[in-house]
Amino acid sequence: MPDQFNDKQIVAQYAADLVENGMTVGLGTGSTANYFIEALAKRKQQGLEVTTVSSSIVSMVKAQSLDLNVISIEQLQSLDLYVDGADEVTDELYLLKGRGSDLVREKLLATASKQMIVMVDKTKLVDRIGEKFAIPIEVMPFSWQLAKQNIELLGGSGELRANASGDGLAVTSHGSLVLDMQFDVDTDITALDKQLSSVPGVVEHGIFIGLASTVLIAEQGKVEVRSNK
Ligand code: 5RP
Repeated sequence: MPDQFNDKQIVAQYAADLVENGMTVGLGTGSTANYFIEALAKRKQQGLEVTTVSSSIVSMVKAQSLDLNVISIEQLQSLDLYVDGADEVTDELYLLKGRGSDLVREKLLATASKQMIVMVDKTKLVDRIGEKFAIPIEVMPFSWQLAKQNIELLGGSGELRANASGDGLAVTSHGSLVLDMQFDVDTDITALDKQLSSVPGVVEHGIFIGLASTVLIAEQGKVEVRSNK
């Protein structure tokens, strides 16, 4: 039987209702973030004053097509709120992101914002980061082999991500390649977060620790709110 509720859309509407007049809001990337952009654009039509900044070219184009005011990251003075989806969320509100290809901007906005709201459905909840997905690691194209060797020394194994059609490599919006790397179940994820950031040639990676202020979890049409203490 088809699912009666579109939980991604429901959680996105819930998040859009939390946006206050005059805010500058960071737009995430992905299908849930797209629903959020649509809901925010509707609120703007109803009179909400909002400025947005996008975490990807795809989100920027979508927001502009719906008549939202989008400024560039270079113009950003301060960010009230960043709203995005995630691929995995733990009890500690650690996130895994990056099935899209714009980790650098996503982490920049998550770090710059006063508050980060994450929108997920129940399927994204996990016991540990890396449970369902490999960890995406953006690497400079000329450095990927050396970076991969160093990541293997940290216990990782994996490959360069293929593009959507499978006939080449995935390239991020600013020209990085992506290594999708798996680690042992008992890997200390907070240590790995720091270790990956210090591997030469790594541009960014998909572990987001201590950045989510609130996670909205939708299940069967209902939204649960979990906040970082
Ligand atoms: C992109 C992301 C997305 O937020 C994540 O992949 C979730 O996507 P979706 O909302 O389509 O399930 O991290 O880099």
